[in-house]
Amino acid sequence: MLTANPNAIRRPYPDDLRAIMSVARAAESRAWLSSWSRFECAITPLWQLPDLAHDLGVGQVLLKDEAVRSALSSFKVLGAPIALVRLILRRFPELALEPRALLAGAHAAALADFTVISATDGNHGRALAAAAQSIGCHCVIVLHAHVSHEREQAIAAYGARIIRIDGNYDDSVHEAARLAEKNGWTVVSDTSYEGYSEIPRDVMQGYGIIAAEALEALEPSIAECPFSHVFLQGGVGGLAAGMASYLWERYGAERPTMIVVEPRQADCLYQSALAGRATRASGTVDSVMAGLACGETSPLAWQFLEGCIDYFMTVEDAEAVAAMRLLAKGGERDLPLVAGESAVAGLAGLRQLMGTPRAAELGLDCHSRVLLVSTEGATAPALYAELVGEPASAVLARQEDWLRAQ
Ligand SMILES: Cc1ncc(COP(=O)(O)O)c(C=O)c1O
Repeated sequence: MLTANPNAIRRPYPDDLRAIMSVARAAESRAWLSSWSRFECAITPLWQLPDLAHDLGVGQVLLKDEAVRSALSSFKVLGAPIALVRLILRRFPELALEPRALLAGAHAAALADFTVISATDGNHGRALAAAAQSIGCHCVIVLHAHVSHEREQAIAAYGARIIRIDGNYDDSVHEAARLAEKNGWTVVSDTSYEGYSEIPRDVMQGYGIIAAEALEALEPSIAECPFSHVFLQGGVGGLAAGMASYLWERYGAERPTMIVVEPRQADCLYQSALAGRATRASGTVDSVMAGLACGETSPLAWQFLEGCIDYFMTVEDAEAVAAMRLLAKGGERDLPLVAGESAVAGLAGLRQLMGTPRAAELGLDCHSRVLLVSTEGATAPALYAELVGEPASAVLARQEDWLRAQ
């Protein structure tokens, strides 16, 4: 399913949006996070996939690989940590804290009684738990019924206290808010709701770092955007808003064509485009793409997406699994890549479009330079092996062979 967004505009980035999220604040976030010890890779690679581009009939496919930035294996490691740092700076001005020292645990003693809480599908909670552990404050994570045991263990490994509830992601968001109110804890959520937008703004702002790095990797001095099309997967809309706002501010009316892709059952952003306002998903909100299985659009994210996402589309779970397999397989000229269930919706959307008449409507042809973001690796390793038919370690072994042969 694909719909053109009637409210998308090609104008300079509006000042009222720049006051909320900006290239300048993304740069500040990047400087603070750059020395965090959890990062194994200061700048993630931007891979060219020429065989895939050829098969699809586009000029270039460029894939930003967020699986390798840290052992946490997802782009969320850019969001929750920066939001936690900014929250603590605001909450304790009298301590005159330095952001990098904070992330290095230098102020742990002063923060020993401070507790943050969040609901999660897995990746955000894991990133928050890791940041809280580095900083030295407490972290409570609320998990809904569909979060797998292996994802729970991955979060608990960073010292977070886990609370399980019945219901879905949205129920866990409400439970986290209730527990915070009752216990005097602070919610660090990646989604906004009525009266709660400062922290999700900081989470989204961190994701602008991906756009900054992708641009630098190509032609940093060129005024024209090096990407003609950007496919972004959507959960509550934070990743897409963080990246799209960055590209919009940088290139204004000349920004690339931007497309958001969601699971069919969790189509809250697609439905928002149809309704012309942030709204709910029409389906069961149950998808193999766990990170994208969100029922409610983040209203703050929608403020950005409404004006700059040209198309919204949905894909089936089976299309995501096929895209995972395709990336894992690699090609003669394409590096084999480990990309998890929620990492590949963008690629699944691109594949669904190519070869159909709608590709021309989007201007997708043999001249297009398409940016994809692989937003996670094998964050649920057993599920990854089951879906791809081999463990991530086997793909990584092939990747090493491929790199050695270059
Ligand atoms: C791997 C992955 N990709 C994409 C997303 C979507 O991000 P957002 O919910 O900010 O739209 C998520 C969300 O959890 C995710 O885990």
